[in-house]
Amino acid sequence: MDPADFYTGLVAESFAPLRSFSPDPEVCAAFLREVGGPALELGCGDGDPLLALRRSGLDVEGVDSSADMLERCRRRADEAGVTVTVHHQRMEELSLSRRFQAVFLAGPTFNLLPDDSVAAAALHRIRRHLADGGTALIPLHVPAPTPADRIGQVRTAPADDGAELRFSVVSEQRDETARTRSTVLRYERHGPDGPTVVERPWLLHWYTRSGFEKLAAEAGLRTVSVTDAEGDAVEGDAPDMVFRLHAA
Ligand SMILES: C[S@@+](CC[C@H](N)C(=O)[O-])C[C@H]1O[C@@H](n2cnc3c(N)ncnc32)[C@H](O)[C@@H]1O
Repeated sequence: MDPADFYTGLVAESFAPLRSFSPDPEVCAAFLREVGGPALELGCGDGDPLLALRRSGLDVEGVDSSADMLERCRRRADEAGVTVTVHHQRMEELSLSRRFQAVFLAGPTFNLLPDDSVAAAALHRIRRHLADGGTALIPLHVPAPTPADRIGQVRTAPADDGAELRFSVVSEQRDETARTRSTVLRYERHGPDGPTVVERPWLLHWYTRSGFEKLAAEAGLRTVSVTDAEGDAVEGDAPDMVFRLHAA
């Protein structure tokens, strides 16, 4: 399966009920108020934090590679009475008629791009969609190995229709040279129509600080700051690095 299609079908249905962490919309809102609009969120998924940002009146659109996640985002927007514009595209093939003052990811979704060449393509597309003086914000993460005692452990949550959703980690492989972690994830749905089970590899690809700065520079993006998730400057490499980039 192409990594850009991971969040489809049962995985898209399970995402919101089983998620353990949501991005704080206020962090993104503060960034957008500082750099101005219009803004574009890459990997907006089913609408966190995009819908909260729209609700606070910010001029922001979304992009996602999963039609299933976007359908959920549109439905949530309708239910909340919020208007939202979302585009079904991959960030590495991003092609919109508008340019943006801010292009950002709310979490480390950029780590879902499977290798440096796809990342380079995405950075070129981000550069092309930045308005003059615009800012890109890209959070990156270096994933730790999944603890052995979490393998096989099952988490459950109710689906919208009352069926039981289950999630577990089946196995994991790590390649320090390719900077990838591939985790086989198992999603299950147990309802009146019987069980549905899906197992998919979830690939994360990470970067060194200098490696990412080089990829960005080759795409015409200059690194203006690297901070941690709290906004404090980071020296050298760190497990969480938020890159702010301007057109070179
Ligand atoms: C972990 S979810 C985060 C969604 C949302 N921002 C949130 O925090 O709730 C990652 C999203 O990125 C999308 N995605 C993955 N690869 C992508 C790509 N190459 N281009 C655009 N979106 C992508 C997935 O479809 C998924 O909806």
